[in-house]
Amino acid sequence: MSDEGLRQARDKMTAAGVDPVAIEVFAHYYRLVESGETGMVPESSIEPLDSPALADADVPDDVAREAIGTTAVIKLNGGLGTSMGMDRAKSLLEVRDGLSFLDIIVRQVLALRKRYDAPLPLIFMDSFRTSDDTLAVLDRYPDLAVDGLPPDFLQNKEPKLRTDDLTPVDWPDDPDLEWCPPGHGDIYTALRGTGLLDRLIDAGFTQVFVSNSDNLGAVPDPRVAGWFASSGAPFAIEAVRRTPSDRKGGHFATRKEDGRIVLRETAQTLDEDKAALGDLDRHRFCSTNNLWFNLQAMKDELDRRDGILGLAMIRNTKTVDPSDPDSPEVVQIETAMGAAIEVFDGATTIEVTRARFVPVKTTNDLLVLRSDCYELDEDYVLHQVSGGIPYVDLEPTFYKLVGDFDRRFPAGAPSLREAKQLVVKGDWTFEDGVTVVGDAVLEDQGPGSRVGAGATLG
Ligand code: UTP
Repeated sequence: MSDEGLRQARDKMTAAGVDPVAIEVFAHYYRLVESGETGMVPESSIEPLDSPALADADVPDDVAREAIGTTAVIKLNGGLGTSMGMDRAKSLLEVRDGLSFLDIIVRQVLALRKRYDAPLPLIFMDSFRTSDDTLAVLDRYPDLAVDGLPPDFLQNKEPKLRTDDLTPVDWPDDPDLEWCPPGHGDIYTALRGTGLLDRLIDAGFTQVFVSNSDNLGAVPDPRVAGWFASSGAPFAIEAVRRTPSDRKGGHFATRKEDGRIVLRETAQTLDEDKAALGDLDRHRFCSTNNLWFNLQAMKDELDRRDGILGLAMIRNTKTVDPSDPDSPEVVQIETAMGAAIEVFDGATTIEVTRARFVPVKTTNDLLVLRSDCYELDEDYVLHQVSGGIPYVDLEPTFYKLVGDFDRRFPAGAPSLREAKQLVVKGDWTFEDGVTVVGDAVLEDQGPGSRVGAGATLG
């Protein structure tokens, strides 16, 4: 039955014009799903990782300057922000002063180019769902284009598979929903398949900095570029110390069998190992998804493996229409870009500060980012101006979806600079000029509750 499923999936991808190598990559994972592969990483197979730190590295200015001159920047922009109820790129959201994530990313790069007289190409990895919107924003920046290089490249697409028989799902109501992007691990296949990898090498670039477009802390910093270029490593990921809020997330470790660095995600952790996963003294570092690789080393490794890096697989179960829980259940096969750390001999992590890791995964994160806890400097670099980042917990029923959230903060975020925590239970709309000081908890007082203009909470 499932041989039939793979045949149908291949035919569907071929008919849609998907790159033949991407079809082979998909087939590799399809067979893993079929064989019941779970991708678990038992605690007994790993040891804690100790990471070198950027703060200890000696990076002379001339080395930094030279390295940023041969760096290309790629932003991952193919995801849809589904956890915030979006069906377009999260990077289109406004962050502050009328500027979206995309505007700020572009301006950060333009400022660095000027300061370092570096070409610093900025290229977005889009999916078939995010490209048009993104290019429309980039059109506003005619200076951004770098000769011979595109503003974006498209990641591949793969069919969603019915969980019952692993055949590609049919959804005539909205055939777009029959497809999904294969996760950001697809970047390597897409770079090679689109020819961009070769074009970057031919244009004289030696290394690439990749990061999430929802992390405005991920500036292509010349000091990190210089550290990476002089490290001789083919591949590196920026790591941060885990904090209590990262307890449930993944972490780096060393695999006992071959000494390679691996990333272990929650979904790859056995139930009996959950305590070890949450032990912040044992597993101290997690990934920022800010990643550096040497272009030639990447090309050589991909060529050696016929384009299939064999990254650890993530098997996601969803419904074909995410907004319709009664639609057929499907498997979406994904890989994560950081999983490539175990593929390269000599790959490393480098510890950086939290300033390089400001991810926006929820509207709680978005509220803090929009607030006066942060400021943008003249180079559009984000600076935390509050002593600490407050804990924000907004009632998901009213604030999880970005449209609902925006309606309840019509005048923008309250002042959070002096806040320790803001917990909102129930349906509250914040009027202009609200300040939160210390700890504030708003209890549920029924629909349409309002925090009046100029109020101080806490
Ligand atoms: P996440 O998976 O953390 O976020 O991707 P998301 O996809 O934006 O949001 P959810 O999970 O649907 O709510 C991290 C980064 O990787 C990109 C995203 O655009 C984001 O910048 N990404 C993700 C891709 O480029 N391609 C993918 O297939 C998946």
